[in-house]
Amino acid sequence: MSIKKPLIIAHRGASGAAPENTMAAFHKAVIARADMIELDVRLTKDFHIVVHHDRNVRRTTNGKGNIWDLTLQQIRVLDVGSWFDPKFHRERIPTLREVIEFLLPTNVNLNIEVKTDGDHRKHTRFEECVILIIMEKRFEERALVSSFDHKFIKRMHDLFPDIKTGALYHPVRDVRKKPSTLCSRIGASTFICSRTRLRPQMIADAHAHKLTVACYGVNTPQHFDKAVDQGIDAVVTNWPEKMAKRLIG
Ligand code: G3P
Ligand code: MG
Repeated sequence: MSIKKPLIIAHRGASGAAPENTMAAFHKAVIARADMIELDVRLTKDFHIVVHHDRNVRRTTNGKGNIWDLTLQQIRVLDVGSWFDPKFHRERIPTLREVIEFLLPTNVNLNIEVKTDGDHRKHTRFEECVILIIMEKRFEERALVSSFDHKFIKRMHDLFPDIKTGALYHPVRDVRKKPSTLCSRIGASTFICSRTRLRPQMIADAHAHKLTVACYGVNTPQHFDKAVDQGIDAVVTNWPEKMAKRLIG
């Protein structure tokens, strides 16, 4: 009997070994031979797409303020590495364009997780901005755009259905909803859920509807082995190198 090998997705890059969502973490993910990198994107005050998880830069940088109140120029001077280890003090918050350019010559694909929480600006055309960067770099085949914001995914899918999309499961809002229901409403082909919330019936429902199932928070050999047993298609991990070794050994 052959066992299906899950794809390895590096969560915020190899964020166990380098500061999350930095070029250092993305570089390590490529070296670790991850199949895909997951990163989080937000829109700056002047409508540039930058790679940052939190709405506020307080936790990860030497600055303060919400991303939507800061210009790209203000963001680019911040040190986003020292909080993790002083040796990463040169790391800067990357732009989405930069990361795609970095990945172009590799065979590592990209899961772009769009964060819209907290940003109440109207008509930002965030969807168009994401689509245009992907198209400009001819990255359509290699991108997966996901979000907890299902309205965003629906708008993106309606505008440009050729780019693959993923629905992130929200443990409160989406409780008791089937993956197939959540995904079909918005045109998503991948269902993404945390390890602690994912149930066998959700995997079965998703697979019965030909959806790809990705599970995040898979950070130990035990988590990984369980994901393999459950037939999960992709694991999202802070430790791509360790998970890749598990796959071989
Ligand atoms: O894509 C899965 C995961 O990244 C979602 O949670 O908070 O790490 O962005 P978070
Ligand atoms: Mg994320």
